[in-house]
Amino acid sequence: MSIRVVVFDAYGTLFDVYSVAALLERHYPGQGATLAAVWRDKQIEYTRLISLSDPFTPTGSRFYRSFWDITQLALRYALAKQGLVNEQATERALMDAYGQLQAFAENKAVLSELKALGLNTAILSNGSPEMLNSAVSYAGLAPWIDRVLSVDGLRQYKTMPVTYAMVTEAFSVEPESVLFVSGNGWDIMGANWFGFQTCWINRSGLPVETLGPPPHHQGSDLTAVLEAISQH
Ligand code: LAC
Repeated sequence: MSIRVVVFDAYGTLFDVYSVAALLERHYPGQGATLAAVWRDKQIEYTRLISLSDPFTPTGSRFYRSFWDITQLALRYALAKQGLVNEQATERALMDAYGQLQAFAENKAVLSELKALGLNTAILSNGSPEMLNSAVSYAGLAPWIDRVLSVDGLRQYKTMPVTYAMVTEAFSVEPESVLFVSGNGWDIMGANWFGFQTCWINRSGLPVETLGPPPHHQGSDLTAVLEAISQH
């Protein structure tokens, strides 16, 4: 089946989350890279804890934290783990940086080529709507992204199947006609299990996940998407 929709993960795929490492390094010399990695890992771990546990608060409502709040909590954890003091002004600067991430250099050319080919484009992200919209406009990607889909309204996170179903519902398509693009191996796995065609952007040369089916396509930057499309 031919591809009708190309869907991108946001953080680590279109936006470079490790670009905050430089700012972390400025505030916490010698710790930037470690803090960035712990921050990111804890952020993703918390999304999974919520999705898997489906917890309730003592008053009986469903426990949920937006991705923005989770990002902030994960930063606090990372600082505590490294034995560092969390200054309010520094936390604000770091969170602001998360709202203004660098996009990877080749993104605009790839996105505009996809639109020139007549394909629908979207972002499907765990990010809260405000942080996604801010990142998309800061990076100047808005002209080439048809839909920005946030899982926030579901109060569940990827890789819950219901989150990937947002795409098939938004575009009224079958999963096989969606090419899902992510820099995160675990996200590619979830999308693959859901039935999407997948393209893994493996920027740091990681091994393929050993659990489950391998990605349908892969490459070291976003141009791999154009190569994948040419094969359908
Ligand atoms: C996202 C994270 C998981 O954008 O990268 O959904």
